[in-house]
Amino acid sequence: MVFSKNQCERMQFGLTQEELISQSTFDLETQLVFSKHWICIGRVEEHVADFEQACFFRTVQIGDYELIVVSTKQREFRAFHNICRHRGTRLLDETSGVLPNSCMTCPYHAWTYDVEGQLIGAPNMGGFEEFQRQEFGLQEVACVDWGGFLFVHLSAPKSAFATDFVAIMTRLRDWQLDDLQLVSRIDYAVEANWKLLFQNYSECYHCPTVHPSLNRLTPYRSATNDLEEGPILGGPMQLSEGCETVSVDGLKIAEPMGSLNEQQKREVYYYTVFPNCFFSAHPDYVMVHSLERLTTSRTAVHCYFLMERGYELNSIERAMRQWDEINRQDWRVCELTQRGVQSPAYQPGPYSPLESMVAAFDRHYRRVMRS
Ligand code: FES
Ligand SMILES: [Fe+2]
Repeated sequence: MVFSKNQCERMQFGLTQEELISQSTFDLETQLVFSKHWICIGRVEEHVADFEQACFFRTVQIGDYELIVVSTKQREFRAFHNICRHRGTRLLDETSGVLPNSCMTCPYHAWTYDVEGQLIGAPNMGGFEEFQRQEFGLQEVACVDWGGFLFVHLSAPKSAFATDFVAIMTRLRDWQLDDLQLVSRIDYAVEANWKLLFQNYSECYHCPTVHPSLNRLTPYRSATNDLEEGPILGGPMQLSEGCETVSVDGLKIAEPMGSLNEQQKREVYYYTVFPNCFFSAHPDYVMVHSLERLTTSRTAVHCYFLMERGYELNSIERAMRQWDEINRQDWRVCELTQRGVQSPAYQPGPYSPLESMVAAFDRHYRRVMRS
């Protein structure tokens, strides 16, 4: 059903201007949201040039933080703050490459760290008895590889990744994300706050007006939710009679994944994962949006398309074209909302019962911001 219990009992109003777009909220989010949750930093494939090349690195920006993500031949990933422990210099100045001699050497006074972050060289520091190299290793950040995506946690996570993500892992188990290949990615720059993008993805109330073509493929009233409260929200939508997937003509772009049951082959599963991912699992492909919060009014979006192995890039084309159109329609209304919310005259309005997941997102967001 579309209506969550809470929503039916009491009308909920949207977030205030202060909550949506103020600089003070943005700064507080850095501490309470983006430093205290698992953040998707992209695909595994983007973080390795070649697994045969040991010690490939990439730098990743999350707000004011910059991380070094190092991959090893064993397909293991480690992440460190890109800060030298001597005087705080940015350690690696390139965005990606292979670490010479599997080491990271600071460009200032040549303190050198191994791929485990241990300080293995500190010239001319031998004069102090109390100087212990092992106390000055790089600051490590938890880094997990799941479903072919990398996630990092900027502060010591209170629970294991598998505990935090169990709901989405269970829901998407049959798509076997780890075995899928990345076939394409589209990047977008959206002039809107990241929360407006979350709210937009969380409801299909707007589908008849904003996405007439999508609404023919998956009618908006077919949306149901099987995760209605908390950090992971959403559920399935039915494909219309005669439609096999979301593509420009509604016809499949590949055979439905063999591991799916008959019901899963007739539905598209939409889930938001707080605070920076949307998963959209179709019978024949999976689309994942990962959001990068840039400013109070700008968000970068990376849209990944995954298929079973063996398909060529052009197989995804009919799906990508359809989703690119839908994405652009969504970004436009998010940008229009940003414009309206910026006005001093903005006042939060009431949500429809069809926006129960937007209301749930807001409730979760407020809980996190009060924590
Ligand atoms: S700041 Fe890095 S070695 Fe001095
Ligand atoms: Fe939309």
